[in-house]
Amino acid sequence: MLPPMEFSEVVRRRRMVRRYDDRPVEPTVVDRMLDHATRAPSAGFTQGWAFLRLDTPDAVGRFWRATSPEVPTGSPAQGNDWLDGMRTAPVVIVPLSNKPAYLTRYAEQDKSGSDQRWPVPYWHIDTGMAALLILQTAVDEGLGACFFGIPDQRTQAFRDEFGVPPDFKPIGAITVGHRMPDTGSPGSPARRERKDLDEVVHRNGW
Ligand SMILES: Cc1cc2nc3c(=O)[nH]c(=O)nc-3n(C[C@H](O)[C@H](O)[C@H](O)COP(=O)(O)O)c2cc1C
Repeated sequence: MLPPMEFSEVVRRRRMVRRYDDRPVEPTVVDRMLDHATRAPSAGFTQGWAFLRLDTPDAVGRFWRATSPEVPTGSPAQGNDWLDGMRTAPVVIVPLSNKPAYLTRYAEQDKSGSDQRWPVPYWHIDTGMAALLILQTAVDEGLGACFFGIPDQRTQAFRDEFGVPPDFKPIGAITVGHRMPDTGSPGSPARRERKDLDEVVHRNGW
Protein backbone atom coordinates (compact mmCIF):
# COMPACT_ATOMS: atom_id res chain seq x y z
CA MET A 1 0.00 0.00 0.00
CA LEU A 2 1.47 3.32 -1.09
CA PRO A 3 1.31 6.37 1.17
CA PRO A 4 -1.42 8.76 0.04
CA MET A 5 -0.33 11.35 -2.49
CA GLU A 6 -1.22 15.03 -2.29
CA PHE A 7 -3.70 16.01 -4.98
CA SER A 8 -1.37 18.69 -6.32
CA GLU A 9 1.33 16.06 -6.66
CA VAL A 10 -1.03 13.81 -8.63
CA VAL A 11 -1.73 16.71 -10.99
CA ARG A 12 1.93 17.61 -11.40
CA ARG A 13 3.21 14.08 -11.81
CA ARG A 14 0.70 12.96 -14.40
CA ARG A 15 2.11 12.57 -17.83
CA MET A 16 1.36 10.12 -20.60
CA VAL A 17 3.32 6.89 -20.18
CA ARG A 18 3.89 4.95 -23.40
CA ARG A 19 5.87 1.92 -22.22
CA TYR A 20 5.23 -0.38 -19.24
CA ASP A 21 7.07 -3.10 -17.37
CA ASP A 22 5.72 -6.64 -17.05
CA ARG A 23 4.15 -6.37 -13.60
CA PRO A 24 0.41 -6.98 -13.70
CA VAL A 25 -2.08 -4.39 -12.45
CA GLU A 26 -4.18 -5.37 -9.44
CA PRO A 27 -7.82 -5.75 -10.52
CA THR A 28 -8.91 -3.77 -7.44
CA VAL A 29 -6.87 -0.81 -8.69
CA VAL A 30 -8.69 -0.92 -12.02
CA ASP A 31 -11.94 -1.12 -10.05
CA ARG A 32 -10.96 2.10 -8.25
CA MET A 33 -10.10 3.87 -11.51
CA LEU A 34 -13.49 3.03 -12.94
CA ASP A 35 -15.27 3.93 -9.71
CA HIS A 36 -13.56 7.34 -9.78
CA ALA A 37 -14.48 7.75 -13.45
CA THR A 38 -18.15 7.52 -12.55
CA ARG A 39 -17.63 10.38 -10.07
CA ALA A 40 -17.01 12.76 -12.97
CA PRO A 41 -19.54 15.54 -13.49
CA SER A 42 -22.03 15.06 -16.29
CA ALA A 43 -24.53 17.43 -17.89
CA GLY A 44 -27.97 16.86 -16.40
CA PHE A 45 -26.34 14.00 -14.50
CA THR A 46 -26.91 12.06 -17.68
CA GLN A 47 -23.86 9.86 -17.17
CA GLY A 48 -23.88 9.09 -20.86
CA TRP A 49 -20.71 7.10 -20.77
CA ALA A 50 -19.53 3.50 -20.70
CA PHE A 51 -16.12 1.93 -20.19
CA LEU A 52 -14.83 -1.14 -21.94
CA ARG A 53 -12.36 -2.80 -19.59
CA LEU A 54 -9.78 -5.04 -21.28
CA ASP A 55 -7.62 -6.75 -18.68
CA THR A 56 -6.54 -10.09 -20.12
CA PRO A 57 -3.70 -10.62 -22.61
CA ASP A 58 -6.23 -12.02 -25.07
CA ALA A 59 -8.58 -9.03 -24.87
CA VAL A 60 -5.71 -6.51 -24.98
CA GLY A 61 -4.19 -8.34 -27.97
CA ARG A 62 -7.52 -8.25 -29.78
CA PHE A 63 -7.74 -4.50 -29.10
CA TRP A 64 -4.39 -3.82 -30.76
CA ARG A 65 -5.10 -6.11 -33.70
CA ALA A 66 -8.40 -4.34 -34.34
CA THR A 67 -7.18 -0.76 -33.91
CA SER A 68 -3.62 -0.64 -35.21
CA PRO A 69 -3.20 0.88 -38.64
CA GLU A 70 -0.50 -0.58 -40.81
CA VAL A 71 2.53 1.47 -39.82
CA PRO A 72 5.45 1.61 -42.24
CA THR A 73 8.76 0.84 -40.53
CA GLY A 74 10.48 4.00 -39.35
CA SER A 75 7.37 6.16 -39.60
CA PRO A 76 8.12 9.15 -37.37
CA ALA A 77 4.70 10.01 -35.95
CA GLN A 78 2.94 7.11 -34.27
CA GLY A 79 5.20 4.41 -35.62
CA ASN A 80 6.30 1.01 -34.50
CA ASP A 81 8.20 2.24 -31.43
CA TRP A 82 5.04 3.84 -30.14
CA LEU A 83 3.00 0.73 -30.80
CA ASP A 84 5.63 -1.61 -29.34
CA GLY A 85 5.65 0.46 -26.16
CA MET A 86 1.90 0.80 -25.86
CA ARG A 87 1.37 -2.91 -26.42
CA THR A 88 3.26 -3.61 -23.18
CA ALA A 89 0.32 -2.28 -21.14
CA PRO A 90 -1.53 -5.08 -19.35
CA VAL A 91 -4.78 -3.10 -19.22
CA VAL A 92 -6.65 -0.98 -21.75
CA ILE A 93 -9.77 1.00 -20.84
CA VAL A 94 -11.91 2.44 -23.62
CA PRO A 95 -14.22 5.28 -22.53
CA LEU A 96 -17.26 5.58 -24.79
CA SER A 97 -19.76 8.41 -24.99
CA ASN A 98 -23.47 7.93 -25.54
CA LYS A 99 -25.08 10.86 -27.35
CA PRO A 100 -28.60 9.36 -27.44
CA ALA A 101 -28.60 9.32 -23.62
CA TYR A 102 -28.40 13.15 -23.73
CA LEU A 103 -31.17 13.41 -26.31
CA THR A 104 -33.37 11.38 -23.98
CA ARG A 105 -32.30 13.15 -20.79
CA TYR A 106 -32.77 16.64 -22.22
CA ALA A 107 -36.29 15.76 -23.35
CA GLU A 108 -37.29 15.06 -19.74
CA GLN A 109 -39.60 17.35 -17.79
CA ASP A 110 -36.97 19.19 -15.77
CA LYS A 111 -34.91 19.91 -18.86
CA SER A 112 -37.53 20.69 -21.47
CA GLY A 113 -38.09 24.40 -21.86
CA SER A 114 -34.47 25.04 -21.07
CA ASP A 115 -33.41 26.54 -24.34
CA GLN A 116 -31.00 23.76 -24.52
CA ARG A 117 -29.30 21.75 -27.07
CA TRP A 118 -25.67 21.82 -26.50
CA PRO A 119 -23.23 24.58 -27.31
CA VAL A 120 -20.59 21.85 -27.47
CA PRO A 121 -20.99 18.03 -27.42
CA TYR A 122 -21.58 17.38 -23.72
CA TRP A 123 -21.39 13.60 -24.20
CA HIS A 124 -17.75 13.86 -25.25
CA ILE A 125 -16.97 16.43 -22.56
CA ASP A 126 -18.41 14.32 -19.76
CA THR A 127 -16.65 11.18 -20.96
CA GLY A 128 -13.42 13.15 -21.28
CA MET A 129 -13.75 14.32 -17.68
CA ALA A 130 -14.21 10.70 -16.63
CA ALA A 131 -11.11 9.77 -18.64
CA LEU A 132 -9.05 12.38 -16.76
CA LEU A 133 -10.13 10.84 -13.45
CA ILE A 134 -8.86 7.48 -14.72
CA LEU A 135 -5.51 9.06 -15.62
CA GLN A 136 -5.25 10.81 -12.25
CA THR A 137 -6.21 7.69 -10.31
CA ALA A 138 -3.46 5.79 -12.12
CA VAL A 139 -0.92 8.31 -10.81
CA ASP A 140 -2.43 8.18 -7.34
CA GLU A 141 -1.96 4.41 -7.41
CA GLY A 142 1.68 4.70 -8.50
CA LEU A 143 0.89 3.56 -12.04
CA GLY A 144 1.23 5.09 -15.47
CA ALA A 145 -1.38 5.59 -18.16
CA CYS A 146 -1.77 7.10 -21.60
CA PHE A 147 -4.84 8.48 -23.34
CA PHE A 148 -4.69 8.17 -27.12
CA GLY A 149 -6.97 8.26 -30.12
CA ILE A 150 -8.38 5.31 -31.99
CA PRO A 151 -7.97 6.06 -35.73
CA ASP A 152 -11.33 6.79 -37.31
CA GLN A 153 -10.80 4.16 -40.00
CA ARG A 154 -10.26 1.48 -37.28
CA THR A 155 -13.34 2.31 -35.22
CA GLN A 156 -15.63 -0.11 -37.05
CA ALA A 157 -13.15 -2.97 -36.64
CA PHE A 158 -12.96 -2.12 -32.93
CA ARG A 159 -16.78 -2.10 -32.67
CA ASP A 160 -17.05 -5.44 -34.45
CA GLU A 161 -14.36 -7.05 -32.32
CA PHE A 162 -15.99 -6.15 -29.01
CA GLY A 163 -19.66 -5.99 -29.98
CA VAL A 164 -19.97 -2.28 -29.16
CA PRO A 165 -23.55 -1.03 -29.73
CA PRO A 166 -23.99 1.78 -32.30
CA ASP A 167 -25.10 4.33 -29.66
CA PHE A 168 -21.66 4.28 -28.07
CA LYS A 169 -18.66 6.01 -29.58
CA PRO A 170 -15.12 5.49 -28.29
CA ILE A 171 -13.59 8.88 -27.48
CA GLY A 172 -10.13 7.30 -27.35
CA ALA A 173 -8.49 4.62 -25.22
CA ILE A 174 -6.29 4.50 -22.11
CA THR A 175 -3.40 2.12 -21.53
CA VAL A 176 -2.62 1.38 -17.89
CA GLY A 177 0.37 -0.32 -16.30
CA HIS A 178 3.48 0.08 -14.21
CA ARG A 179 5.49 2.78 -15.88
CA MET A 180 8.98 2.15 -17.16
CA PRO A 181 10.99 5.14 -16.05
CA ASP A 182 12.34 7.29 -18.83
CA THR A 183 11.80 4.90 -21.70
CA GLY A 184 9.41 5.00 -24.57
CA SER A 185 8.33 8.08 -26.45
CA PRO A 186 8.21 11.19 -24.24
CA GLY A 187 5.67 12.58 -26.69
CA SER A 188 5.15 16.20 -27.66
CA PRO A 189 6.32 17.77 -24.34
CA ALA A 190 9.87 16.78 -25.37
CA ARG A 191 9.52 19.13 -28.32
CA ARG A 192 7.18 21.83 -27.05
CA GLU A 193 7.12 24.14 -24.04
CA ARG A 194 4.20 24.26 -21.64
CA LYS A 195 2.47 27.58 -22.28
CA ASP A 196 2.83 30.27 -19.62
CA LEU A 197 -0.23 31.04 -17.57
CA ASP A 198 -0.13 34.62 -18.89
CA GLU A 199 -0.60 33.30 -22.38
CA VAL A 200 -3.72 31.28 -21.63
CA VAL A 201 -5.40 33.06 -18.72
CA HIS A 202 -7.31 36.28 -19.43
CA ARG A 203 -8.14 37.89 -16.13
CA ASN A 204 -11.32 39.93 -16.07
CA GLY A 205 -11.25 40.33 -19.84
CA TRP A 206 -9.33 39.10 -22.86
C1 LIG B 1 -7.65 14.06 -26.86
C2 LIG B 1 -6.23 13.54 -26.74
C3 LIG B 1 -5.73 12.71 -27.71
C4 LIG B 1 -4.43 12.22 -27.60
N1 LIG B 1 -3.98 11.35 -28.54
C5 LIG B 1 -2.76 10.79 -28.38
C6 LIG B 1 -2.34 9.79 -29.28
O1 LIG B 1 -3.05 9.38 -30.20
N2 LIG B 1 -1.11 9.23 -29.06
C7 LIG B 1 -0.32 9.61 -28.01
O2 LIG B 1 0.77 9.07 -27.88
N3 LIG B 1 -0.71 10.57 -27.15
C8 LIG B 1 -1.91 11.16 -27.30
N4 LIG B 1 -2.34 12.09 -26.41
C9 LIG B 1 -1.43 12.54 -25.34
C10 LIG B 1 -0.87 13.93 -25.60
O3 LIG B 1 0.11 13.85 -26.60
C11 LIG B 1 -0.27 14.46 -24.30
O4 LIG B 1 -1.28 14.57 -23.33
C12 LIG B 1 0.41 15.82 -24.47
O5 LIG B 1 1.50 15.73 -25.35
C13 LIG B 1 0.89 16.37 -23.14
O6 LIG B 1 1.75 15.45 -22.49
P1 LIG B 1 1.45 14.88 -21.05
O7 LIG B 1 0.02 14.41 -21.01
O8 LIG B 1 2.45 13.76 -20.87
O9 LIG B 1 1.65 16.00 -20.08
C14 LIG B 1 -3.62 12.60 -26.50
C15 LIG B 1 -4.16 13.45 -25.52
C16 LIG B 1 -5.44 13.89 -25.62
C17 LIG B 1 -5.99 14.79 -24.52
